[in-house]
Amino acid sequence: MTPTLLFIFGGSGDLNFRKLTPALYNLFIDHYLPEKFAVVGLGRSPYSDESFRERLLEGVREFSRRKDDAPWADFAPLVSYLPLDAGKSEDFGLIADFVNRREKEWGGSANVVFYLAVAPQLVPGIAQNLGKLPLCGNKARVRIVVEKPFGHNLASARELNGLLGGLFAEEQIYRIDHYLGKETVQNILALRFANALFEPIWNRHYIDYVQITAAETVGLEGRGGYYEKSGALRDMVQNHLLQLLCMVAMEAPVSFDANEIRNKKVDVLNAIRRFDAEAVRDNAVRGQYDEGTAGGKAIPAYRKEEGVNPNSATETFAAVKFFVDNWRWQGVPFYVRTGKLLQKKTTVITIQFKAAPHYAFPEEAAETWRPNRLIISIQPEMDIRLRFQAKRPGQTMLLNPVDMVFSYKDAFDGQEPEAYETLLLDVMAGDATLFMRADQVEAAWRVVTPILESWESRQPVDFPNYTPGSWGPEDAEALIARDGHHWVTLPKR
Ligand code: BG6
Repeated sequence: MTPTLLFIFGGSGDLNFRKLTPALYNLFIDHYLPEKFAVVGLGRSPYSDESFRERLLEGVREFSRRKDDAPWADFAPLVSYLPLDAGKSEDFGLIADFVNRREKEWGGSANVVFYLAVAPQLVPGIAQNLGKLPLCGNKARVRIVVEKPFGHNLASARELNGLLGGLFAEEQIYRIDHYLGKETVQNILALRFANALFEPIWNRHYIDYVQITAAETVGLEGRGGYYEKSGALRDMVQNHLLQLLCMVAMEAPVSFDANEIRNKKVDVLNAIRRFDAEAVRDNAVRGQYDEGTAGGKAIPAYRKEEGVNPNSATETFAAVKFFVDNWRWQGVPFYVRTGKLLQKKTTVITIQFKAAPHYAFPEEAAETWRPNRLIISIQPEMDIRLRFQAKRPGQTMLLNPVDMVFSYKDAFDGQEPEAYETLLLDVMAGDATLFMRADQVEAAWRVVTPILESWESRQPVDFPNYTPGSWGPEDAEALIARDGHHWVTLPKR
């Protein structure tokens, strides 16, 4: 791989501490980093190289999938810290100097990646200052990585795309959605398009409905200020959940070219039915948690959390019934839900097949008859289970639903890489497949805009409406129960 310099804005921040450095450390241990590599933390905190490395080592000990810190001694010299005020354009010369010095030392030109792990309001200023550096004109060598949230709504996402597009070429811009880096999410493509078995039945003729749940047991984790302006729809649905929906619903790509895959996903987003205000009321449910206990801990009501308005209308739970209006999916509901402080941490996709057209079996045999179902557990179980009917052993014909299970952990003994390992490596390799293109982000905003607008225009009268440790508000159960279904959760293994 080409020699690479990675600059992290927000170097002293949480994302670097918990995710980026542990990911780089694991890439280093697995020999994936280029031979000539350096990572530079940028920020206003007054670290020296040494004290910065010490701080990051604490993060590795706590958050890396490998806790062994023996290789740290070899990794640490690759890390340095450059104090810099991202608001001062004159400070950006320090970056250019650093690049020049390192390239001289390495005896050749390097790829340069700028990772913006900063609050969203800082992104435009940093991008503008970077854009003034002559080196950023080099499309082949320089890349910029932008974390979510990408905009606050369609207008601000467009504005940001416009600004970035004026400074960088689209192929230089890597918009992160970390769900796309998860092994089990990438595996959806393998499941669907490396097997001939599923494609013929992957449509409205055989699939009754699809469910996507991303439930979290954590609350705000000190991010009240951010979350209060975001809410579950912006924080999870606009990006992660719609991306999962796209993976399930997209047409087969012709190749694994980054743009080809992203084109197919944009087609899905464009096909999602736009709701009017009445349809929002019928198809979308919002919730906010009350005080209670979860995991043995007392939890304050959302409205009492730090950084939250005591009359807040921000939703900490969202459930939506989407429709994808195209030939493959017409009439198949996609139920999607996510929330904070729910009963279990679980991200699962359920593909519910239609019932067999005719029950030839005697009545008593069919008592527990259930239609086929495919459950893809993204996390934490990381398995895929196909439910079908089997004959219960014995002299009478009795049917029983059983599961055929593929478990990542049992099938592959190696540890799977963290999402950020995959994504960082892809940025360095210049592969944008798992990143959001400008039009993709905007299409996703277009899908959620009517819901956002409708919710903003109507005060929620029933907030708070769910207790920590539950599965969210009753209305979310009613949303799916009206169609004769229920939310699927995985049994404990
Ligand atoms: C982030 C959200 O994008 O995803 C967080 O901002 C959320 O609020 C997190 O907790 C969930 O990610 P994961 O990988 O734990 O499912």
